[in-house]
Amino acid sequence: MAFKEGFLWGGAVAANQCEGAWDVDGKGISCADICTGGTHIKPKRITPVLEEGTFYPSHEAIDFYHHYKEDIALFAEMGFKVFRFSIAWTRIFPTGEEMEPNEAGLRFYDGVIAECLRYGIEPLITISHYEIPFALTKKYNGWSDRRVIGLFIRYCEAIFNRYKGKVKYWLTFNEINTGTMGMGNLLSLGILNEGTTDFSNQADDPQKRFQGLHHQFVASAMAVKLAHEIDETYKVGCMIAFSTTYPLTCNPDDVLICQEQNRRMNWFCSDVQVRGEYPAYMDRYFREQGIHIKMEENDQDLLKEGRVDYYTFSYYMSNCATADEGRKKAEGNMFGGIANPYLKASDWGWQIDPKGLRYTLNEIYDRYRIPLMVVENGLGAYDELEEDGSILDDYRIDYLRRHVKEMHEAVLDGVDLMGYTPWGCIDLVSASTGEMAKRYGFVYVEKYDDGSGDYTRRKKKSFAWYQKVIASNGMDLD
Ligand code: BG6
Repeated sequence: MAFKEGFLWGGAVAANQCEGAWDVDGKGISCADICTGGTHIKPKRITPVLEEGTFYPSHEAIDFYHHYKEDIALFAEMGFKVFRFSIAWTRIFPTGEEMEPNEAGLRFYDGVIAECLRYGIEPLITISHYEIPFALTKKYNGWSDRRVIGLFIRYCEAIFNRYKGKVKYWLTFNEINTGTMGMGNLLSLGILNEGTTDFSNQADDPQKRFQGLHHQFVASAMAVKLAHEIDETYKVGCMIAFSTTYPLTCNPDDVLICQEQNRRMNWFCSDVQVRGEYPAYMDRYFREQGIHIKMEENDQDLLKEGRVDYYTFSYYMSNCATADEGRKKAEGNMFGGIANPYLKASDWGWQIDPKGLRYTLNEIYDRYRIPLMVVENGLGAYDELEEDGSILDDYRIDYLRRHVKEMHEAVLDGVDLMGYTPWGCIDLVSASTGEMAKRYGFVYVEKYDDGSGDYTRRKKKSFAWYQKVIASNGMDLD
């Protein structure tokens, strides 16, 4: 038993992390555009007023805006069947409030989609990937204000109509569950509370944050309904950052704390988006935290009517949970957690756990019984450019090989898996640190953290490896 016929092998990127051209052809400023570069130890700063002389990585990124034809040709050479990218809301509605979409922005994505289709690559579009218009943050404090729902739907309507007949797969909000954490404030919800200066230590108001998340749930459900009305062949999915969490020991206290964390951080959002209602276990959390979700009369019906067609998630690592407060912390994308003595971590402290992917796929499929897709996975690493221009990224091949192997095991276990799009199939800016140095790609880009580099693209060793994996439908992993 192999991966299914037509399995969607490909790669994933996001507009703010690759496009650059941040103010070109009428694009407005997004929340990503006000974040400076940072490093593993020095958090990115959030600067509501742009500073002269400061480096803002999203402003140039890898200039996908002007290189997309070359990049998609490379993806086609690897044999991609699908390319996951996001549309920058600010290219279509620069402040989020215009009545008519920006034609130049729509035209850019016409080009990207046409290029994909030319090679038989299926576009998979994330509608909102960490780049809400900054004007909406200033005026409404982002998603904390219900009025943003209508503006988002206007944006969805514009793109659903424009790309009808060309695109089949959509995702509403990237890693929507980052809104369950303080770090998700600006990143995911466009909320900027007074007192926030840097990305890893944002001023937090959980009431506002969970209310914002509720507005995203409603917006997502409305988008699903609208998509189906506009084109009944559209498939719309949710997207969750899955940080699998194990109890550190079999002490029942650890098991219970682990269950609580998994529910709140990993399951809550998809329980709403897949099952169409708030799970009972969140009532207690809201009660104890003094959070009250304000709903309008037909919100609950909307959530039911706008359930997603498929489930997607990112998977990079796993963590542990314990009731013992003295235990060593691990790092990770937004989550963190407790270090697992059985696992090794990446240079950024993310604990590598391929078997955890098999476990997670099984858990998700058992719970929802709808098709799944791994839309992010990969190793952020320091790559070295050899004198002859090659990049020997055997560590990345090893990481991906082990994960694909476990994905296959999950398929053998009976999981309905649609596809796999490793993250940052071409090097791009890191979301958590704002670095270029944390590279994920099969394609190296000569762009560096001091802003230098001429954007030359080079195939890494992993390029040929992935090409072989795709050609053999995941069977040849050597
Ligand atoms: C996910 C995001 O959290 O992980 C991406 O959807 C992000 O936007 C990716 O880039 C990897 O994280 P990082 O911080 O290494 O870029």
